[in-house]
Amino acid sequence: MIQLQNISKHYLTNNRQTIALNAVSLHVNKGEIFGIIGHSGAGKSTLLRTINLLERPSSGQVLINNTEFTQLNHTELQNKRRKIGMIFQHFNLLTSATVEKNIAFPLTLAGMPKNQIQARVNELLTLVGLEEHRNKYPSQLSGGQKQRVGIARALSADPDILLCDEATSALDPLTTNSILELLAEINRKFGITIVLITHEMHVIRTICDKVAVIHAGQIVEQGLVTEVFLKPQHRVTQEFIDELSDPIEWSNLRNQQGTSPHLVKITFLGEQTYLPLLSEIISHTGVTFSIMQGTISRLKDTPYGVLHVIFHGEERAIEQTIQELKIRGLDVEVMQ
Ligand SMILES: Nc1ncnc2c1ncn2[C@@H]1O[C@H](COP(=O)(O)OP(=O)(O)OP(=O)(O)O)[C@@H](O)[C@H]1O
Ligand SMILES: [Mg+2]
Repeated sequence: MIQLQNISKHYLTNNRQTIALNAVSLHVNKGEIFGIIGHSGAGKSTLLRTINLLERPSSGQVLINNTEFTQLNHTELQNKRRKIGMIFQHFNLLTSATVEKNIAFPLTLAGMPKNQIQARVNELLTLVGLEEHRNKYPSQLSGGQKQRVGIARALSADPDILLCDEATSALDPLTTNSILELLAEINRKFGITIVLITHEMHVIRTICDKVAVIHAGQIVEQGLVTEVFLKPQHRVTQEFIDELSDPIEWSNLRNQQGTSPHLVKITFLGEQTYLPLLSEIISHTGVTFSIMQGTISRLKDTPYGVLHVIFHGEERAIEQTIQELKIRGLDVEVMQ
């Protein structure tokens, strides 16, 4: 549905060239929630804005539903852009217009008849849960409510694609989750393809199907969230993931009995997460273990677990335990 091919973007300011994007290629399928994560200045906003050509790439192709956007004339582009909604970190609402008027604004611009606008606005107010706030001004709303207005406005023209530029970065954790839930609901109900950019792995983990990691204008890693999150290949990806969990207590590890303790990382995915595989196996191999760190959570709808353990026992029994865990389909990595 969205294909970015070899996109580069250079800026020239005061005779100095900044390479904001360097040969970026991405493919987003219809109905996906695709997350792009990167540090500040990595090129996230520039990349997102090339999708609707708010930012024209210096080179490369932007194909949306097989239409090459860079070849469209002004009117054609305007028409195509109506089907791409966008929401922003700082909401970008009209401060002198009520909630209703903010949501109606794109429809008024598009020349929709008044009664139809009213019906559509009512529908959207219900969807985002703001019926009671319809006559308020943005200054009378909380951040979360403002973003709900932003979402309703972005959906007003019934878009196929929703672009989200750090939509939750100005919100507290609880409000962030409620906005993420709303975005997931919109994706499920209407099949709208969502591309979001963020610097928070929590956002990726909560709602995205796929992820691309951008660093210094280049995509350094991309794939299914379940794959990238559990088997990160690039240092930057690892750093984002590490932010979500406490570091392993290496000093505790050194204090464990035995001269060379085996620290093992066991990863569970899907239904495996809830099965007593480890206890079944150790019950006959005879090893014991200490947990150094553990997480059980979800990647969107998929349960997963990551357990760092030290096995104690005979070398052969430990090896057998690791072997059997692998046979039962778990990912086992001997860390040291
Ligand atoms: N209009 C511009 N003129 C010159 N340089 C620009 C322009 N817009 C962006 N850049 C540069 O391009 C690079 C990428 O910027 P971009 O805004 O895409 O980063 P970002 O990943 O969205 O960062 P943040 O998380 O801080 O929003 C930066 O080095 C930035 O300074
Ligand atoms: Mg940005």
